[in-house]
Amino acid sequence: MFQQIYGLRLAMQPCWHKAFVILSLSELILHFRCMEYIIVEPRYEKHIALIRLNRPKELNALHLELMAELRDALKMLDADEEVRVIVLTGNERAFAAGADIKQMAGKNAIDMLKIDQFSTWDQIKKTKKPIIAAVSGFALGGGNELVMHCDMVIASETAMFGQPEIKIGVMPGAGGTQRLPRAVGKVNAMEMVLTGKFISAQRAYELGLVNKVVPVELYLDEAVKLAREIALQSPIAIRLAKESVLKAYESSLSEGLEFERKNFYLLFATDDQKEGMAAFVEKRAPQFKGA
Ligand code: CAA
Repeated sequence: MFQQIYGLRLAMQPCWHKAFVILSLSELILHFRCMEYIIVEPRYEKHIALIRLNRPKELNALHLELMAELRDALKMLDADEEVRVIVLTGNERAFAAGADIKQMAGKNAIDMLKIDQFSTWDQIKKTKKPIIAAVSGFALGGGNELVMHCDMVIASETAMFGQPEIKIGVMPGAGGTQRLPRAVGKVNAMEMVLTGKFISAQRAYELGLVNKVVPVELYLDEAVKLAREIALQSPIAIRLAKESVLKAYESSLSEGLEFERKNFYLLFATDDQKEGMAAFVEKRAPQFKGA
């Protein structure tokens, strides 16, 4: 439907979602309405967008189609100047129970190589705006890996995290063997990956996998509350700060420090820095514009 409506505009793009097209709000909303496996509210609150994974019967198993929609939604929300923070959630029973086992079961290695299902995940990593995961119920396999792609995590006390791939004869493939040790340390990651055992929200909190655990009726509110705090800050400073923190995962200390320092100096080119510091001096709240 979207392709029909915007066929003319996008006709030149063999793969329209890969094109950098800035859409108006009504176009965005129309596009999001065409999505089947996620629900996107680009104006959930001022400067906050909400994405809800929406395959409840399958416990939000992350099949290719869902992941393609998620990739497209993130790309569009990232390009939408009104959005400053993205909250990603599932439902009370499941954030996501992993990659779709039924979709993968009959595939051979060459099929998997050709499909290259994890390439769609790269967009999550590339998203410049902060993503907060609001997790309840199962966050397993690819579900836990999706959680770890996010920047912060609020969990309901019913949340369960795990990498159970070993129990179906495989292993994590969407970053679990790399991000989990960084999040919870080698021995804990090893135990989770090699036994497939789940851990509770409380244990995930103790290990540093989640920021906060709250009663189930509050997990989304709490994530939005955190999003609100971040949305009040300068979007440019937030973007560079996020990039700098992520750099810590992929560089040596001295490279990371150099990167941080340059980003810090760069922020002095923004109006938001002038406003933020002037507001401090004048003892008032800053009004950040993202410029
Ligand atoms: N893929 C496909 N379908 C799934 C699924 C998955 N990962 N997880 C659950 N479902 C489906 C079930 O097949 C079931 O469908 P039907 O009603 O059609 O039978 C439905 O969701 C409900 O699930 P259950 O009946 O199994 O619910 P439960 O409460 O008894 O158990 C569960 C819940 C413990 C999460 C169990 O469903 C389970 O173990 N799921 C698989 C978890 C898993 O192994 N995840 C890793 C996948 S591989 C991966 O993610 C690789 C990677 O690195 C990206």
